[in-house]
Amino acid sequence: MFNIILFGPPGSGKGTQSEKLIAKYQLKHLSTGDLLRSEIAAKTVLGIEAKTIMDKGHLVPDEVVVGMIRSALENNPTAKGFLFDGFPRTEAQSVALDNLLKEKNSEINIVLALDVDEEELVERLLNRGLTSGRSDDTNEEVIRARIAEYHKKTSVVADHYKKFNKVVNVKGQGTVEEIFIALSFEIDKRLP
Ligand code: AP5
Repeated sequence: MFNIILFGPPGSGKGTQSEKLIAKYQLKHLSTGDLLRSEIAAKTVLGIEAKTIMDKGHLVPDEVVVGMIRSALENNPTAKGFLFDGFPRTEAQSVALDNLLKEKNSEINIVLALDVDEEELVERLLNRGLTSGRSDDTNEEVIRARIAEYHKKTSVVADHYKKFNKVVNVKGQGTVEEIFIALSFEIDKRLP
């Protein structure tokens, strides 16, 4: 298996680049944000509770997202590899993911970290909020709260994987195609 974490703050282009990378490398896309929004759309108890937290720009509890990832890994036993998007977001989630992959005799092969200036992130998300229907994109205060959560709780995930020399920073500003080429270049260097 070849497993990638696509890492970066809200609005850095993780979802956009994930679509292209999974098509090129035939990986299974696991986005905890998408999984949570499916629960919200289905009006499950989990979804109703998660929406209150997401609308404030805060993180959903670790055990909830780790449980979703555990099920997704179990449900895709023949996947050639996974592309994790928006997960892990805390040190505890990173440790849980490493352990889940170890049970499958696998590991994270590369963490691709997208770097984008904060003001561009806010502009991208406010623009998307005009049409996306995502309630956490419509309000600048919530967008800045999401970015603050990233700095406070999520940036440590990069530190965790730096210990294993797995993190590569990629400029996340430029055209979607330019960034895709830069990400592909880093992946190709590490493919078995
Ligand atoms: P999640 O769904 O993961 O959202 P996010 O991290 O806030 O990221 P976004 O989807 O907003 O941005 P992105 O980096 O994917 O960028 P995108 O490609 O969409 O999480 C939402 C919430 O769920 C969290 O706040 C939290 O509450 C909860 N949650 C999720 N996972 C969790 C976890 N593991 N633990 C706890 N809680 C969790 O691009 C953004 C915009 O920019 C788009 O409009 C796009 O078209 C545009 N764009 C993309 N690339 C470019 C480019 N190169 N130039 C110009 N514009 C671009």
